[in-house]
Amino acid sequence: MSILKDKRILLGVTGSIAAYKAAELASTMTQAGAHVDVILTRAAEQFISPLTFQSLTGRKVYTDSELWGGESHILHVGLGHAADLLLIAPITANTIAKLAQGQANDLLSITALAAQCPILIAPAMDIGMYENPATQENVRLLKERDILFAGPAQGRMASGLEGLGRMVEPNEIIGQTRKILGKSGDLAGKKIIITAGGTQEAIDPVRFITNRSSGKQGYALAQAAIDAGAEVTLISTPTALKAPVGVSFLLAESAEEMLNAVLTESADADVLIMAAAVADFRPAKIAEKKLKKRDGIPQITLEPAPDILKHLSSQKSGASRPSLVVGFAAESRDLLSNAAEKLKSKKLDLIVANDISAKDAGFNVENNRVILLYADGQKEKLSLQSKYKISKTILKRVASMLNKEKVFNTGLLSIAKTEK
Ligand code: CTP
Repeated sequence: MSILKDKRILLGVTGSIAAYKAAELASTMTQAGAHVDVILTRAAEQFISPLTFQSLTGRKVYTDSELWGGESHILHVGLGHAADLLLIAPITANTIAKLAQGQANDLLSITALAAQCPILIAPAMDIGMYENPATQENVRLLKERDILFAGPAQGRMASGLEGLGRMVEPNEIIGQTRKILGKSGDLAGKKIIITAGGTQEAIDPVRFITNRSSGKQGYALAQAAIDAGAEVTLISTPTALKAPVGVSFLLAESAEEMLNAVLTESADADVLIMAAAVADFRPAKIAEKKLKKRDGIPQITLEPAPDILKHLSSQKSGASRPSLVVGFAAESRDLLSNAAEKLKSKKLDLIVANDISAKDAGFNVENNRVILLYADGQKEKLSLQSKYKISKTILKRVASMLNKEKVFNTGLLSIAKTEK
């Protein structure tokens, strides 16, 4: 979560039962390295105490008791000026109305009015209050003024009723926060397609052939690309992972479906990163009905599955190709020579080679250890680290290549040094 590191988040909390979830927000953001300053309204103090936030953030918490103190001017203007983001979660119908009208009668509303940073609000209110025309009009006004909204969500209220007005969960709010903070990153304005997971090639309606890919590296790349400001389309096979907040998500089960999705999305994309483990072979025929045991052992004939990268690189396909294409090479032997061969035959700008025979890296684990091979013959070794950190470096290199900058000047190595 390094995008939050050293960022100044001003967290406003208003009087809603969802205030307890703000404690989780403050805690997660602090653990990710952000400096979280909390402002509580008087009503919020009825639900949760300043001490809770002070303990979680290790920082002073601001309340209306300081509104008329000697430092009040510094507080009013200073808090909002110094922040990278003002997040108000939960925000009540009352504070939404105050913001819409430009009222400034408590520390939070004064700070919001003076704030120079983006403002993200997560509404929380009981049934009917959000849909009330008065609130809707306020929401419209705030959206018009570029105030960003997280939610509200549909669901069960504290009153026991169901409807629209629940505060969205902290992970959704943190996801939106990351997107806002990353907005002017290295890849701002670029569209990136990332594929992830192992494809599933159907044998019959219930069975398929797949591989050990978990999708973790592809999902980490998608999150890192959001953090770098890109517009991200994640084309994924079914996995156990949650798509990062802010991506356009497309599900593709088979190599064929992934090929079609990649071709459609490539038309206006700047970068394609093929992190998916796409099947090389698929059953030549998919049985319409479930194969039955009583019919004996089936003879499954395989045929080649489409090679997505080859298809894109072939002159004949006529498919529009993103300006930069990155592939992965999962190898269990001759890592560098196999990867170099794929880099060339698939006409890639960069290939990320990983040795899948290692126990501590590669498929289905949190970390990876890779070598980046560039089209101009340069190589760069990335030691064992989280898939997110690996992703950040890959995307940094991608951004440099897009901007035609010199890619890197450290970490070079020769084949002779690493190939065993
Ligand atoms: N790839 C693809 N279409 C396929 C197979 C692979 O686009 N049908 C892409 C992968 O997403 C990856 C790169 O090609 O980015 C290399 O994949 P890999 O499985 O390592 O290589 P293959 O070309 O399949 O060759 P082999 O399995 O023989 O190593």
